[in-house]
Amino acid sequence: MRSLWLETHDPAEIPSATMPAGISYDVAIVGAGLTGLSTAVMLARAGKRVIVLEARSVGAVATGNTTAKLTLLQGTRLSDIRSRHSLETARAYVAAHVEAQHWLLEECSRQGVPVQRRPATTYATTAEGAETVREEWETARELGLAAAFARTTELPFPVTGAVSLEDQAQFHPLQVLTALARELRSLGGILVEGVRVRAVGRSGPFTLDTTRGEVRADRLVLATGSTVLDRSGHAERVTAHRSYAMTYRVPAGAWRPHGMHISADAPDRTLRSVPVGGEELLLVGGGDHVVGRAESPRRILEEIHDWTRGLVPGAERTHSWAAQDYHSASGLPLVGELPGSEGTIVAATGFAKWGMTGGVAAALAMTGLLEGTAPAWHPELQRGAGASALAAGASMTAQVGAHLAAGWAQAELQALPAQAPAEGDGVVGRSGGRPVGVSTVQGRTCAVSGVCTHLGGVLRWNDAERSWDCPLHGSRFAADGTRLEGPAVDDLAQVPRPR
Ligand SMILES: Cc1cc2nc3c(=O)[nH]c(=O)nc-3n(C[C@H](O)[C@H](O)[C@H](O)COP(=O)(O)OP(=O)(O)OC[C@H]3O[C@@H](n4cnc5c(N)ncnc54)[C@H](O)[C@@H]3O)c2cc1C
Ligand code: FES
Repeated sequence: MRSLWLETHDPAEIPSATMPAGISYDVAIVGAGLTGLSTAVMLARAGKRVIVLEARSVGAVATGNTTAKLTLLQGTRLSDIRSRHSLETARAYVAAHVEAQHWLLEECSRQGVPVQRRPATTYATTAEGAETVREEWETARELGLAAAFARTTELPFPVTGAVSLEDQAQFHPLQVLTALARELRSLGGILVEGVRVRAVGRSGPFTLDTTRGEVRADRLVLATGSTVLDRSGHAERVTAHRSYAMTYRVPAGAWRPHGMHISADAPDRTLRSVPVGGEELLLVGGGDHVVGRAESPRRILEEIHDWTRGLVPGAERTHSWAAQDYHSASGLPLVGELPGSEGTIVAATGFAKWGMTGGVAAALAMTGLLEGTAPAWHPELQRGAGASALAAGASMTAQVGAHLAAGWAQAELQALPAQAPAEGDGVVGRSGGRPVGVSTVQGRTCAVSGVCTHLGGVLRWNDAERSWDCPLHGSRFAADGTRLEGPAVDDLAQVPRPR
């Protein structure tokens, strides 16, 4: 499963370098998604010597697998934030995202990245959903956005209500990342792919321990999705949610959306069009679930596919993919200095699937913090994120504890079957007193430790992506144990295949 975005860009256009030796940087940025690369460009523009270290490749994780809607109307997020926070905090959230949207649109315009300006809509199909949508509309108006309420939309099915905001934007995220990487290079910054940061000291100046040697830097930006540093406490304050996206070629004359749409009620769906290679594809997404806690991701994919084929008969799937993002207990992103780092480490996570603006807002805040000029909206957002985090965080911790115990209990009870799993299947069971995961992918049967290298969650097989996923904080590993994403930094150990 590889996204349309990753399939339709040329990695050779991204100027990445080999690991330099013996150079010390002002700032090392870990992660080359939208958050990391936009922070790198901002810092390089401010004259800093910057290095970006990316474990996989540019955009390999959330940004290369997003749906790339750059919008201030974000499903029902504004009313959700407003219901949990003060008017000042909600205003600060909107101010941050307005500034971020403006920054990224300017960047695209300067670098010649194609952007389609489209209306964004949140729609409902139930009476209850209509109430939610009306609340979103009222909140958007209260926060100064020119949103409109409607009872009809361009969608090819009836809705009970919809809120929309004109003149938002959609783009190809790899084109944006490529432009940022090129600008970084032109400003003297360095980007290295295929290098994973494993450990860092408490505060700067740092000597980072990476899979390809050491890197020295005075300060550090963690733009890694979930924060890959246990002492940040971030991984335990966010929940990883995974969902799915597919693109379709639709028959001539069949319906396809002009605007960008997202549902307020079940089934959760997101729709937009994608101009690529001279044609316009339909993108459909949905199927949100907590990572490692869905019975069968493959079934979720099939449900979305069936729903799409019902909507547009004859639609032909071209790509399907999945990705995850992190939701904080407070509902607000976690962005700021890490405690105990004396201002030398800043980190960002918790964009709740709205990181096209959220990641750039985080970049503006982190650059400001490192430069001593944080944006005016940042302190209010930090206060809001801290204030309600305690109570919500306690329920999150309880859920994690329950999954930890259940995972171990199940693994202890279940002996591994004698025969290798069928192609595409995986199973965790007891072997030599420890949970072991055995899977078969492309004819190769692998046995790996069934215990997550982050904080010991027992892993679950993902039958859509053929990976080991952790139900605690969302780390994921390939069938052979290679770390893919999440707060874990180490691979799973391969173990002898139980007989
Ligand atoms: C299905 C889906 C649809 C979405 N749609 C939208 C949308 O329409 N609009 C919107 O605004 N937002 C959307 N989002 C959210 C948005 O895509 C994300 O919030 C955003 O891409 C996050 O960017 P990032 O740079 O913070 O993280 P990422 O893109 O995940 O980048 C983090 C990088 O850090 C690297 N890394 C991690 N650990 C290490 C390490 N130890 N050493 C070195 N590198 C490391 C990773 O390999 C990765 O490349 C969506 C999210 C999902 C999951
Ligand atoms: S991700 Fe935290 S224990 Fe697995």
